[in-house]
Amino acid sequence: MIQAKVAEILESNQFLQEFEINGWVRSFRSNRFVALNDGSTINNIQCVIDFEKFDPETLKRITVGAAINVKGILKESEGKQQRVEVEAKEVKILGDANPEEVKLTILSPKRHSLEKLREQAHLRVRTNTFGAIMRVRSKLSFAVHSYFQQNNFYYVNTPIITGSDAEGAGEMFKVTNFDLKNPPKKEDGSIDYKKDFFGKETNLTVSGQLEGETFALGLGQIYTFGPTFRAENSNTSRHLAEFWMIEPEIAFCDLDQNMDLAEDFIKYVVKYVLENCKDDLAFLEERLANEDKSKPAAERSDMGLIEKLNFVLENNFKRVSYTEAIEILKNSKPNKKKKFKYIIEEWGADLQSEHERFLVEKHFKCPVILFDYPAKIKAFYMRLNEDGKTVRAMDILFPGIGEIVGGSQREERLDVLQEKMEELGIEEEELWWYLDTRRFGTCVHSGFGLGFERLVQFVTGMGNIRDVIPFPRTPQSAEF
Ligand code: 4AD
Ligand code: MG
Repeated sequence: MIQAKVAEILESNQFLQEFEINGWVRSFRSNRFVALNDGSTINNIQCVIDFEKFDPETLKRITVGAAINVKGILKESEGKQQRVEVEAKEVKILGDANPEEVKLTILSPKRHSLEKLREQAHLRVRTNTFGAIMRVRSKLSFAVHSYFQQNNFYYVNTPIITGSDAEGAGEMFKVTNFDLKNPPKKEDGSIDYKKDFFGKETNLTVSGQLEGETFALGLGQIYTFGPTFRAENSNTSRHLAEFWMIEPEIAFCDLDQNMDLAEDFIKYVVKYVLENCKDDLAFLEERLANEDKSKPAAERSDMGLIEKLNFVLENNFKRVSYTEAIEILKNSKPNKKKKFKYIIEEWGADLQSEHERFLVEKHFKCPVILFDYPAKIKAFYMRLNEDGKTVRAMDILFPGIGEIVGGSQREERLDVLQEKMEELGIEEEELWWYLDTRRFGTCVHSGFGLGFERLVQFVTGMGNIRDVIPFPRTPQSAEF
């Protein structure tokens, strides 16, 4: 890989080495300078060709998008743009790219909109922007595992196909192996959709939490990191139908400890990418600054990307109860002057993203952890507080993103949990195994879910969640 090879040579200061690289041509100027990129870094490597010594047929085939092999000598560059360059002695064409056809794709060397890149999701990884995002995403994944492994959490793979609705929100994709010609029928002759998976009703998981809880109550501290699915028809810049979630679950841990863990974890992974993705972040920061220039002054961000990431590291997340937040919102200018789309009238209302963003971006101006939400607007498994009306829930809200984490202390008391399930019409038969954990050695335990793509969005500064996942699944697109 170019990045590793060049770093090694720079470190040892042993120039003039025999050097061989494979890559894709990004540009070819003056029949002399090839900018080559093999995906390992944002930095192209310049290969200098003495065209008079090369076969003209080969030169003709060095075109944007082609895959080539270059053998030569790595030297300190005379140009100001780069520290090193390759004096090419030999060039082999590995895969041609017809310039006429390349012109019609996003590989053509001009600025393409992010929408255009999405239409060619199979090629966009070869662009600077998307390449940088995907390298950062990969490093972030590693940091996630590294954090939990260092802190003695066990990695658990929870099922993708499941019979339960973890969030109780009914936003599930059904899984079926129906024989369409001969589906199971109810007594009245209509199709029995409850028997769609070998005679049982099943869905794609919305969260690994419930299964994760059973493992935390055996292994102590666990985390999941896998795909989750939501069949909500949300066409926003923060929602996907398929996204990756990280869900730690910890036995003998209350909500305050859960908040400490979430904050520490986020800071660790942000620090990790700041230290390990310097070139990509610098590129993304510049990209964002250019994008900002075309916006009206009021919409421009007051911090650069790297400054924003450092700000998160250096400041405590502000912890605020739902009740305090509602007071702030009720008395805030946008509420009184009706600038919010949804006006907060009273305690108990669910917060919309405009309210979350107001709290984070305008009021506190830092990441916020909201806790103790009304029971009515949260999931069935959250622990009821002594007041009988709020639950030990927490959401972490981030600037530019809104909710990045949702978590809670879990209801560990069997009778209270059963009562709640009955109230919501959740059948015990469906979750008998979950209730068993409360029957045998139940204990205080907590966990949270962090939406991985929202984290990648925050770290890369990308405005649209579709641009931080390789092949986005949304109500409009599942083509690739
Ligand atoms: O708040 P949510 O729905 O919480 C749960 O699923 C819990 N079972 C987690 C737990 O306690 N173990 O989702 C958690 C996070 C959200 O804060 C958000 O970051 C992300 O998952 N998320 C989505 N990301 C992208 N697209 C969607 N449609 C998302 N829905 C939730
Ligand atoms: Mg949530």
